[in-house]
This record gives sequence, C-alpha cells and structure tokens, in this order.
Amino acid sequence: MTEEGNILEVQDLSVHFGHGEGLVKAVDEVSFYVGRGETVALVGESGSGKSISALSLTRLAPRAAVYAGGRVLFNGVDMLERSERELRDIRGSQISYIFQEPMVSFNPVFTIGWQIEEAIRLHRKGIDAVGEVERLLDLVQLPERAAAAYPHQMSGGQLQRCMIAMALACSPELLVADEPTTALDVTVQREILNLLADLSQKVNLSVLMITHNFGIVADLASRVYVMQQGKIVEEGSTKQVLYDPQHDYTKQLMAAVPRLHPVKS
Ligand SMILES: Nc1ncnc2c1ncn2[C@@H]1O[C@H](COP(=O)(O)OP(=O)(O)OP(=O)(O)O)[C@@H](O)[C@H]1O
Ligand SMILES: [Mg+2]
Repeated sequence: MTEEGNILEVQDLSVHFGHGEGLVKAVDEVSFYVGRGETVALVGESGSGKSISALSLTRLAPRAAVYAGGRVLFNGVDMLERSERELRDIRGSQISYIFQEPMVSFNPVFTIGWQIEEAIRLHRKGIDAVGEVERLLDLVQLPERAAAAYPHQMSGGQLQRCMIAMALACSPELLVADEPTTALDVTVQREILNLLADLSQKVNLSVLMITHNFGIVADLASRVYVMQQGKIVEEGSTKQVLYDPQHDYTKQLMAAVPRLHPVKS
C-alpha cells in the first residue's frame, strides 16, 4: 500500500444470489476505483447492482449474498479477507455510508446533537465532542441550535445534512452516498450533493456517489461508472460520458436525464 495509491480499488468483484436456475449475478466482475479526495459516481437503473456493490465494500450485503470472486482493496487491504470484527471497526470509522432514509439513522428520542456526540465519543476518544458537534453542524451549514432539535423537528433536507454530519463524526476517509437525496425535491437534492462535493474538497474526503439519476451528479463527479445488470458497461470522465456516451444503454440513460443546466456545445 502506498500513500499515493487509490483509497479504493474494486477488482473483478462478483456477488451472487441464489443458485442454479435462480442464480442472480447482482454484481458481475465489476472493477472500479476511487482516488484520494476524488468524487466518483456510480450510475445505473434500478436493480443494476449499485447498492449491492456499495454494501459489499464492507461486506454488508444481505445474508443471502455470496461473494463469488474478486477483491475490494481499501487502502491496499482486501476487505473481503478481513474478520467481521475488523470490518466493524472500519465501518463508520474509515468508511461511512449515507442512505436514502435519514429518519432510520436517528433515534427519535434523542437530540441530533447528542447522537452526533455519541458517534464522536465512540470513534474518536479524547476529542472535545461538544465543540466537534458545533464544527460539524457548521460544516454542513446548519445553525448551532440544530444540536438541540429532535429528528422529527427537522425537514428532510435538514435531516439529510445531519446525517452527513453524523457520517463525518468519525472522520472517515471514504464516504459512500447511496441515493441519499432521492426522497428530496430537486433543489434540495442539489444543495445536499453540492455540499458533499464541497466537503470532499475541504476535508479531503473520497466520495462514491450512487444514483440512478445521472443529471444530478453530472457536474460533481470527476469520473463516472455506468452499471447495467450487474456489469460496468461504460466508464470515463464525467464530461466524456455525458457528451459522448458510447454504449447504447448509456445513451438511453443520458437521454432520460432531465437537464438542470443547458448543455453547452
Ligand atoms: N436479498 C436479496 N436476495 C436476492 N436478490 C437480491 C437481494 N438483494 C438484491 N438482490 C438483487 O440484486 C440485484 C441488484 O440489486 P441492487 O439493490 O444492488 O440494485 P440497485 O442498482 O441498487 O437498484 P436501486 O436503484 O433500485 O436501488 C437485483 O437484481 C436484486 O433483485
Ligand atoms: Mg440501490
């Protein structure tokens, strides 16, 4: 492993469900990488294998999943070879996830501030947790008083910001955002994703953004991988894929993208 190496390198990863006639190759010899401080997008229609790929990074795929082959190198070490205990340490402290439903990530009976504080205390001993909560809320552009609020007192967008603060509480190296904004309206989605891209610059965070809506990540990710039926069918710089898609499926995907910004030619 080298400092300059990519933080994440997935090599020929295969994850299957079922067997015989019922075999589903949810992830089929997939390879991709994320550089340090880089924001990379994984796009594809529903059922293409995006979430199973994301979860497999820390071996969090559903129980029925079989890791049928390949490697997941995080900082040069294969996650599929690690013990469950080691993985538990890595999840949340080095690799953080943000999912679509922020409500399920927070306990309704505790304040936002308390819950973020707990995460800090758990993962980063000896640090001033209260001060750190303030810093994190500021980082996700929420007022200090958000700390005293309960989850149900926040809007969807605010809660998603809290979730990002929570994900950053353990100062991870890699953030995996699996469709974190699809429940929000388009303007708020943009704000949240902008925030993520911004953070990746500010705190040198590597981000894997997963979405079925390419338009929403188009100008945030430096590179994009397009998934279809468990396979990566196209990859390249975002510009290249957006303006000159090669694969038929990618062309369809691009055509379906409601453009937020007019395409310059
Ligand atoms: N627990 C499971 N048992 C059997 N098959 C599963 C299971 N979970 C997922 N799959 C299958 O794996 C494939 C990939 O699913 P995945 O959730 O990764 O798709 P996705 O690209 O994230 O879709 P979406 O955009 O809807 O979130 C699908 O064909 C799905 O049916
Ligand atoms: Mg999914």
